[in-house]
Amino acid sequence: MLRFALVGCGRIAHRHAQLLADKHVAGAELAGVCDLIPERAAEFGKKYGAPHYTDMDEMVVASKPDVISVLTPSGLHAEHVIRLSRHGKPIVCEKPMALTLDDADAMIRACDKARAKLFIVKQNRWNRPVVKLREALESGRFGKLVMGTIRVRWCRTQEYYDHDPWRGTWRYDGGILANQASHHLDLLEWMMGEVESVFAKSSTALVNVETEDTAVAVLRFTSGALGVVEATTATRPKDLEGSLSILGEKGTVEIAGFAVNEMRHWNFVEPIPGDVDVLATHSVNPPNVYGFGHHAYLEHVVDAVVNDKAALVDGLEGRKSLELMTALYESIESAAEVKLRFRPRWSRLGRSKGDT
Ligand SMILES: NC(=O)c1ccc[n+]([C@@H]2O[C@H](COP(=O)([O-])OP(=O)(O)OC[C@H]3O[C@@H](n4cnc5c(N)ncnc54)[C@H](O)[C@@H]3O)[C@@H](O)[C@H]2O)c1
Repeated sequence: MLRFALVGCGRIAHRHAQLLADKHVAGAELAGVCDLIPERAAEFGKKYGAPHYTDMDEMVVASKPDVISVLTPSGLHAEHVIRLSRHGKPIVCEKPMALTLDDADAMIRACDKARAKLFIVKQNRWNRPVVKLREALESGRFGKLVMGTIRVRWCRTQEYYDHDPWRGTWRYDGGILANQASHHLDLLEWMMGEVESVFAKSSTALVNVETEDTAVAVLRFTSGALGVVEATTATRPKDLEGSLSILGEKGTVEIAGFAVNEMRHWNFVEPIPGDVDVLATHSVNPPNVYGFGHHAYLEHVVDAVVNDKAALVDGLEGRKSLELMTALYESIESAAEVKLRFRPRWSRLGRSKGDT
């Protein structure tokens, strides 16, 4: 039985705790929880039947977990992962892994040094239709890739951003690209391969925050294929979709639904047995935009830790979509096409006012 300790008792922590406390994830249970806000930690611990703390190191020493999960605001992931790496235990870090490439590199270095496995949560990679799409891609069914597109049309009101002071700030969150669309950017790059260049534009359309709530971008992949990103939290009055389309010379697949969960199109020039059933067997829209993926994700963590396997999204893999995301911000700020690899000069993501 692997025992997980959670750092941060906010929104996403409920997702982790429900799965762990009720032993939904085979071979995993909850060892302890911690939050800087004592009442929040106490209420959370009581709800999920776990000892609660306000200091992460104290929690690790007292509850002796096998895995530590960092579920704190994005701009704090680096500080917390580096601090916790000293315990030498596997660390699960929520997405995005960090907000700057320097932070990501420091996290990777610290975990390598401490021999602590680092897992970045990209739970949508485990969605049934996404797994199916990846299978088709790996077996070469698309032929030459032509275009990959993502659409994130979600609804986040002023109330959502005002709920916690870190939301919608450059230093701790970023906008739609860094927060909500980070999943879809990861999927796009995972399917289409390395990105060569990006050109992006953004606006803050419907809420009063520092960062963008709406962004569009065009991408060129090193394969020569093109990509389109359309992402907004200014969809009203409710969430519409989180979707991904992959178009190749020999096939087209589109996965839609709220959280990339519904196989909408599965068309191949050279069909194989089973293709006719794919739409029916790979379309389960979850009740909310978080999707179902944390369950499968945590099972992957257990398997990788117990059987000493590699993490599908380790620090280096998590860094890839962070680099893409940072390039999008660099393009927005500089109003120019940005070629990857690059060093950010303009991007405000992850920085405080006045930082150079
Ligand atoms: N995978 C997903 O689909 C998904 C969904 C939502 C959020 N997230 C990610 O999870 C992270 C947290 O988001 P959230 O919505 O749960 O935020 P939240 O504000 O609801 O929760 C964060 C919690 O961390 C606590 N915290 C901050 N510093 C701490 C410290 N030093 N020690 C202990 N606790 C500390 C805060 O008090 C707060 O309770 C973000 O990085 C976000 O991007 C991922």
